[in-house]
Amino acid sequence: MNFRKMYKERLTTAEEAVKLIKSGDNVIFANAVAEPSVLVDAMVANKKNYKDVTISHCVSIGKGEYALPENKEHFNLRCWFAGVSTREAINQGYGDFVPMFLHQIPLNIRKGIIDVDVLMVMVSPPDENGYCSTGVSSDYTMEAARQAKVILVEVNDQMPYVCGDTLIHISEIDKLIETSYQLPEIKCPVIGAVEATIGKHCASLIEDGSTLQIGIGAVPDAVVAQLKDKKNLGIHSEMISSGILDLYKTGAIDGSEKGIDKGKLVGSFIMGNKNLYDFVNHNPDVLLKPADYVNHPMVIAQNTKMVSINACLQVDFLGQVVSDTIGTNQFSGVGGQVDFVRGVAMSLDGLGKAIIAIASTTTLKNGKMISKIVPYIDHGAAVTTSRHDVDYIVTEYGIAEMKGKSLKERARALINIAHPNFRNELTKEYEKRFNI
Ligand code: COA
Repeated sequence: MNFRKMYKERLTTAEEAVKLIKSGDNVIFANAVAEPSVLVDAMVANKKNYKDVTISHCVSIGKGEYALPENKEHFNLRCWFAGVSTREAINQGYGDFVPMFLHQIPLNIRKGIIDVDVLMVMVSPPDENGYCSTGVSSDYTMEAARQAKVILVEVNDQMPYVCGDTLIHISEIDKLIETSYQLPEIKCPVIGAVEATIGKHCASLIEDGSTLQIGIGAVPDAVVAQLKDKKNLGIHSEMISSGILDLYKTGAIDGSEKGIDKGKLVGSFIMGNKNLYDFVNHNPDVLLKPADYVNHPMVIAQNTKMVSINACLQVDFLGQVVSDTIGTNQFSGVGGQVDFVRGVAMSLDGLGKAIIAIASTTTLKNGKMISKIVPYIDHGAAVTTSRHDVDYIVTEYGIAEMKGKSLKERARALINIAHPNFRNELTKEYEKRFNI
């Protein structure tokens, strides 16, 4: 059948489309910017007709109304990454968090560990062959599309058409609605003096010809801003951000020395500003692939001089890195941090570096400044990157290399890059802990 005919047959309203969701279904939202907000709103508006619909997603930048306490008999939150709209539900106990490495989400969908009754995703208008692009999200979205019993899509004429594994044919879609709105933009973080200094330290570890993964947060973006004088960099990163585009425009990135996917900006999802969304549209230099490729440590290991740059919330004397919890509270998720730390360690050329870059302190809402380098992680906090995996920790006060260092050596190296206001206190704790 002609795909245009199929398109018309599937075209409906959001209110009608969400009627395909049934009580007890597992509904997966496409990741981050590919979440179809009009369909999600219609689903929440139709809540009286649902009982126990489970909602799963990774990064969510939507309103998250399904996760409000008054909706708990209709929806169960079961997500792999916490965000502004879902933290409260998880931390108050009426929502759930499932720890999972990003590269394993598609694998677990394939294995049936994650059931997909319904996938909800935003896509581009179809091409001349009837294929819509999931645009800014390949990660787990494409595997969910392959396994879903029902696919509901929002065809947004502003969703870019991105090369790689992002295509869903009209025939695979059950219901579609048409929308036209600008994709959510993520503001570029403010890069202050501290972040710029951290960026410079990290830049000193990055050689020309390196392939980079750039994580989420202000500090990884600050690092990118310090790389403008580098040459022949490559990108193999779970997330492609606006910072990467800015660097690309300087000419520092050409992908010419990459071990795999030479010349391509490789990512599994895209999140940034409108310039970035315009840039990736029909751009053959950009390759979006699922997370079980991009984030698989054995794939990461094939890159040349692979450097991963991620942030965290706390590091203890042993080099244990806490990136997704604050005490017992779930703050974010592991995403691809450990995928990349491990892939880098497995680098076939033996030249990989895994950097965890942080400001040495943070200021709490009550105005109190605290050290991110601590003797012991907070009670109830979860280790994201283990002491066995950790490689480089960087703050505005320098670089602490962890691999090969004993516990005492690690603690001393970390105290040296802690904020000076906390070094005496940390040294006393060091002496106590190690019976010095
Ligand atoms: N104790 C208590 N609060 C802390 C804290 C600590 N040790 N460290 C940070 N915070 C607070 C900050 O004060 C800030 O509070 P605010 O929102 O009130 O200002 C908040 O936590 C966020 O801290 P910040 O350092 O600004 O976070 P960020 O936006 O730069 O993100 C991570 C940092 C670690 C949360 C983020 O990188 C992440 O989620 N990482 C895990 C996933 C990952 O690395 N994926 C890989 C690539 S995509």
